[in-house]
Amino acid sequence: MPHPPELYVGLMSGTSLDGIDAALADLGGAQPKLLARHYQPFDDALRNELLALHPPGPDELHRAQLAGNRLAQLYAASVKTLLGAANTSNAKIRAIGCHGQTIRHRPEQGYTLQIGNAALLAELTGIAVVGDFRSRDIAAGGQGAPLVPAFHDKVLRHATVHRTIVNIGGIANLTDLPPGGDTTGFDCGPGNLLMDAWCMRHLGKPFDDNGAWAASGMLLPALLERMLDEPFFTLPPPKSSGRDLFDMAWLNSKLQGGESAADVQATLLELTCRSIAQAIRQHSAAATEIYLCGGGARNSALRARLAALLPDSCVQTTDILGVDGDYLEAIAFAWLAQQTLHGKPANLPAVTGARHPCVLGAIYPA
Ligand SMILES: Nc1ncnc2c1ncn2[C@@H]1O[C@H](COP(=O)(O)OP(=O)(O)O)[C@@H](O)[C@H]1O
Ligand SMILES: [Mg+2]
Repeated sequence: MPHPPELYVGLMSGTSLDGIDAALADLGGAQPKLLARHYQPFDDALRNELLALHPPGPDELHRAQLAGNRLAQLYAASVKTLLGAANTSNAKIRAIGCHGQTIRHRPEQGYTLQIGNAALLAELTGIAVVGDFRSRDIAAGGQGAPLVPAFHDKVLRHATVHRTIVNIGGIANLTDLPPGGDTTGFDCGPGNLLMDAWCMRHLGKPFDDNGAWAASGMLLPALLERMLDEPFFTLPPPKSSGRDLFDMAWLNSKLQGGESAADVQATLLELTCRSIAQAIRQHSAAATEIYLCGGGARNSALRARLAALLPDSCVQTTDILGVDGDYLEAIAFAWLAQQTLHGKPANLPAVTGARHPCVLGAIYPA
C-alpha cells in the first residue's frame, strides 16, 4: 500500500562547525526515505564568529543574535537548494526540523543554547520550523543530549543482532541497541573537534583529510594518558559534552610544550579512538556489529584504528544499512520535527536522564 507522503526537512549544523547538512525526507512510511540532500559549508568568517561565541566575550548577546540571523539566511538558502533539487514546493513541506548552532551547552546549570533565528527561517521559507529541541529535556532534569539515539532505535535496531551506533561529529556519541533490551546512549568524548582545531592551527586547514597528517606522527603515550585521565571519560551516563569542555584550552592544559605538532595530531586521533572503544567496552560490550556515522566515519585512518581496537566486532558505516552516514543526523532532526507536530515525546529518559518523556521543540508556524 503506498502511503501518503509526509515531507520534512532536517537541518543539522553540529559542533564541528563545518557547515549545514540539509535533508529532505519522506516520513510517511515505516522507514524514512531520503529524497534530497545538500551540504552547505560555512565560510571562514561565520565559522570564526561561531567559534568565538563559545567562550564568554564582549557584546556576546548582540553578536549571537547577528550570527543567528546569518545562520537563518544560510539555512533558508540550503532549504531552497534542497527543494529545487527535488523539484518540490515549500507548500508540500510539513515542517523544517532545525537543530540550530550550539554556542553554549550547560545542562548542569539548567540551559543549552542553539542559535539560528527559527522565526526568520520560517519567514524566509514560508515553512513551519521546529527548533530548540533540547531545552525541554533539560527542563525535565535531562542532559538535553544526545537526542539521536531515539532515531537510531527507530531505524537501525535489529531484532536479533546487537548493534552499536557511533556518531563521530565534533563530539562522538554512542547508541547501544541490544536485541530485546532498552536503548541507551551518551556522549563519549571528542570526535573531530580537537583534531580539527589542531589542524587549523598548524596547517591552516579545517580538517586532517583521512588522518594523513596524524599518520605521519608518532603517538605520545604520556600525553595520551594525561588526556584519558579526564574525569568525563569515566563518568557514568547520562552525560553530554561539547566545546564547553573539549576546546583548545583543554588541549593546551595537557601539553607540556615542545611536542611535534604531527605527534600531537597522532595522539588526538588515538584519543578519539581509545575513548570510543573504551565506551563501547564498558557499555556495549556484547555488540557484534558497530556502525559509524558522522564526518569522522569518512576519516579512513580513524576507521582503521577503531576497527583494530575492536577486533571482536564488525566495524562498518551506516551506509551499508542504507542510511547515508553524512545525513543521518539531519534526517533525525526531520523526524524529531515530525514527532513534535504529532505531539509525540521523542527524548529517551534512559539516555538523557530526564524524569519523563517529553514532547520536544518549539514550533514557529509557517
Ligand atoms: N575525509 C575526511 N577525513 C577526515 N575527517 C573528515 C573527513 N570528512 C569529514 N571529516 C570530519 O568530519 C567533520 C564533520 O562531521 P559532522 O558529522 O558534520 O560533525 P558535526 O555534526 O559536529 O558538524 C569535519 O569537521 C571533519 O573533521
Ligand atoms: Mg557538521
